[in-house]
Amino acid sequence: MPRLNYKPILPAKPRPICIVGAGSIVRDAHLPAYKLAGFPVHSITDLNFEAAEKLAAQWGISRAFESLDSMLSDAPANAVFDLALPPNLFADVLRRLPQGSPVLLQKPMGETMEQAREILAICRERRLLAAVNFQLRFSPFVMAAESVINSGTIGDLRDIEIRVTSHTPWDHFPFLKNAPRLELLYHSVHHIDCVRHFLGNPARIQAKTLRHPELDMAPSRSALILDYGDAVRANIQTNHFHRFGTRHQESFIKWEGTKGAIFAKMGLLMNYPLGVPDEFEVCTFPDGKPIWETIPLEGSWFPHAFIGSMAQVMRAADGDAKALVTPVEDTIHSMACLEAAYESSDNGGCDPSKFINP
Ligand SMILES: NC(=O)c1ccc[n+]([C@@H]2O[C@H](COP(=O)([O-])OP(=O)(O)OC[C@H]3O[C@@H](n4cnc5c(N)ncnc54)[C@H](O)[C@@H]3O)[C@@H](O)[C@H]2O)c1
Repeated sequence: MPRLNYKPILPAKPRPICIVGAGSIVRDAHLPAYKLAGFPVHSITDLNFEAAEKLAAQWGISRAFESLDSMLSDAPANAVFDLALPPNLFADVLRRLPQGSPVLLQKPMGETMEQAREILAICRERRLLAAVNFQLRFSPFVMAAESVINSGTIGDLRDIEIRVTSHTPWDHFPFLKNAPRLELLYHSVHHIDCVRHFLGNPARIQAKTLRHPELDMAPSRSALILDYGDAVRANIQTNHFHRFGTRHQESFIKWEGTKGAIFAKMGLLMNYPLGVPDEFEVCTFPDGKPIWETIPLEGSWFPHAFIGSMAQVMRAADGDAKALVTPVEDTIHSMACLEAAYESSDNGGCDPSKFINP
């Protein structure tokens, strides 16, 4: 097995971060990741000032602001802005950032395709160096898989499968209670983005996303086929309302190639919110027979992947990286795949009864 390269390159001199939004994802992932990486947080603001003050006190952030404007008037010239708000609010904040600012937006890139296009237009117009926090791409197991694939160890990719069977306590995310779009927009969008990271843009999407009659929320179960032609299969299957204990919960990404395969268990999503350990295995054929090797990795999706998504912005802003990994110019295609999935779910499929009496 080649040496795995699965840790993001850190900026030579981390820039000061100004955070907009002091909600649960900032508390649980952004701030722990920045502490691990030694990224300085300059300031934080939230409409709910108490939330901003509380996180500032807990994480030793010296400035908490009641408004975006007061944060902006204090922001250092080399600041990176970190937006962790409900996605329908990104456009308004982006319009108010200084021209040319580096900025990381939480995913999804807007609640609708219209908002995604508006975000892209504002970023272009204001020349923002803008990336979306599709941090699954930077999780240790996805970066390790990329390293294995780039080394040629499993040959050419023929199959990517992502499957999640779990019981997600949606009450942990109160802002999703009345959201018209749920599983695809807030969850599988990571999976779509991850498949695109390896295979590029699919030619077509077929999908079905559906509610569970016993869950008073928008669809929590989905099945997607990303069409890459006849040689490569890419499927995403999710069921976030599997209420039957942990025994048959699953959460994995599997890559199959012409010479081997990779299996990554995403432990975070199982037995949620406690999670279980990740697993990372690579299959090769040293003596003509398949041998699976377990490779221990340091870190996990939460919070470690959040280091990579911020590091990319800092390094690109410094000119140390040629390009962002998840620029808005690219991630708009993940949003377009999402929109195609909704359209397919509403209008796609073929009625078998027409073949009975043609
Ligand atoms: N894996 C991931 O990448 C991941 C996971 C969870 C959430 N998210 C995304 O992160 C974002 C925030 O999610 P969350 O779970 O932290 O939500 P949350 O409701 O816990 O926090 C959002 C915060 O934004 C604040 N806010 C709202 N409008 C504001 C404004 N105009 N100015 C300043 N603050 C404002 C709210 O007061 C709240 O504190 C969402 O876009 C969500 O989709 C991403």
